[in-house]
Amino acid sequence: MKIQDISVNIVFDSRACATIEAVVFDTEGNKFTGIVPAGKSTGVNEAHILDPHDARRVITETVSPAFNDKEVRSIAEIDSILLGLDGTGRKEQIGGNVMLGVSIAMVRALAFAQKKEPWEVIRAEFFSNETELRSPYIFSNLINGGAHAANNLSIQEYMVIADTKEEGVLRSIERLIAFYKELGEDIKRMYSLPRITIGDESGYAVDFDDNFAPIALLEKKIVTSEMQRAYRIALDAAASGFYKDGAYSFDGNMIDEGALKKIYDTYFDRSELLYSIEDPFEETKEDAFRSLQVSHADRVIVGDDLTTTNTATIERSAKNGAITGVIIKPNQIGTVTESCEAIRRAHELGVRTIVSHRSGETEDPILVQIAAAANAYGVKIGAPLRERVFKFNELLRIYS
Ligand code: PGA
Ligand code: ZN
Repeated sequence: MKIQDISVNIVFDSRACATIEAVVFDTEGNKFTGIVPAGKSTGVNEAHILDPHDARRVITETVSPAFNDKEVRSIAEIDSILLGLDGTGRKEQIGGNVMLGVSIAMVRALAFAQKKEPWEVIRAEFFSNETELRSPYIFSNLINGGAHAANNLSIQEYMVIADTKEEGVLRSIERLIAFYKELGEDIKRMYSLPRITIGDESGYAVDFDDNFAPIALLEKKIVTSEMQRAYRIALDAAASGFYKDGAYSFDGNMIDEGALKKIYDTYFDRSELLYSIEDPFEETKEDAFRSLQVSHADRVIVGDDLTTTNTATIERSAKNGAITGVIIKPNQIGTVTESCEAIRRAHELGVRTIVSHRSGETEDPILVQIAAAANAYGVKIGAPLRERVFKFNELLRIYS
């Protein structure tokens, strides 16, 4: 496939914040796009983001000329050109958003040229050892707190982990939608609310009695609706968001790391269905992650801000015993190649991978294609409402 030109559109994400859509043209006049999402609870080691107007300048002046009339054959080749243009660890020169937008659009261009789906092209290049197509668990964020909601919850995300394998993806999504709607009615009844507020990832975002109350509610609802075989519970504490000057703001108190660990211990004891906690402590406190993982060897501590989709960091945290699960967000690292390398290394280390959206999302569903290519353990895609539904729809296109 030969590239003619690359341009960029400034578009808006689900919070109406400006982001970029890279547009790649091949020499036959076909056009392919890639849109970049944005996080709010971002890790400090995430790839640098260029302002969309600067991104437009960089694409026109630097990136497009580098691909002009260029024959490209693989994702790795494309991304190594992008990495060469940048030359910095954190993508400060051309920006992680520029690189990722172009990288995604190029995957689509390669897939079109080969008459394949994006996941097939990604698999052929990075996951050729995967022979079957296994649908991922859906991590669906039904109750929002932290930076994604204007309520009293420190914990950012209360998810159910829906098993899609038993009943198939369509049935599993239908059931999840029903579960989510009923949960909203339960919350309204429980707190006598005439209406219910929705957070950034489409989960319910009302005040609760304390940070454990949503877990208790989900656990009870799963049991009463007899969904124990299909659902477990996952949290994303996103603890950097409620950490300041050595203390965590939790249930109205400022507490230290040891006290927070004890609280998580009780959560695991009180909730049999609670399976995983993502970013339970501030993002540099790897020892605290490890101590929680060691205390609960049968549960999964997940790195997100801790690991920022960086292969070397994932490897270090996994080998240290700090995590047994990891979030993969392509825009944390900047290219499809590096995201896939991170997944591959995680799988080699026995770490569960969860390919994730951002709280500021767009209509671009590439994360689901990456998850399918890799046979990732899970996809984290919010509650089944509003713009979050587009990722559910992409699952349906691939798996049904
Ligand atoms: P973000 O949150 O997209 O706002 O960073 C998602 C997460 O922390 O997993
Ligand atoms: Zn997170």
